[in-house]
Amino acid sequence: METLNQRIAQAIHHQPQPTVTVLSSLLAVEDALGYIPVEAVEQVAALTHATVNDVWAVASFYPNFRFQPPCPHQVEICWGPSCHLKGASGVIAAVLDALGMAGEGDTPDGGLTLRYNTCLGACAQAPVTAFDHHLAGRMTPEQARARVQELLGQPGGENRHAR
Ligand code: FES
Repeated sequence: METLNQRIAQAIHHQPQPTVTVLSSLLAVEDALGYIPVEAVEQVAALTHATVNDVWAVASFYPNFRFQPPCPHQVEICWGPSCHLKGASGVIAAVLDALGMAGEGDTPDGGLTLRYNTCLGACAQAPVTAFDHHLAGRMTPEQARARVQELLGQPGGENRHAR
């Protein structure tokens, strides 16, 4: 099994774009692991010839980076323009109600992370929600509530960001 450092190295050394920057490297780690561990900051600094402080400055500037591993279940609700027009606000309200939360974040029991997204890349299927990284389109508030309750009833499902 790959170590955390190996997974970070894999993410930052195999970026598809020709220009590798501190930000592109942090995004690659966030995409691969679901968060930015301390080890990643050190590796990104070494790769980009920046200081650890510089990398932290970039990482902490962007509110979408998280520095703790995500919960076992993850729900991402798109509220971009297409999804907004097709009723994303109703989906958000239903999911927040099902979770007993007021906004995005982790549930108090650490079982589920809720995030908002500005485009999940499937606008034609709006409104779109991702449940444990599986996209579901033409989502209704009722369906979203049921899917979240289903996830909450599971001890921990498929998770590409396994710790
Ligand atoms: S705006 Fe929601 S998937 Fe693009």
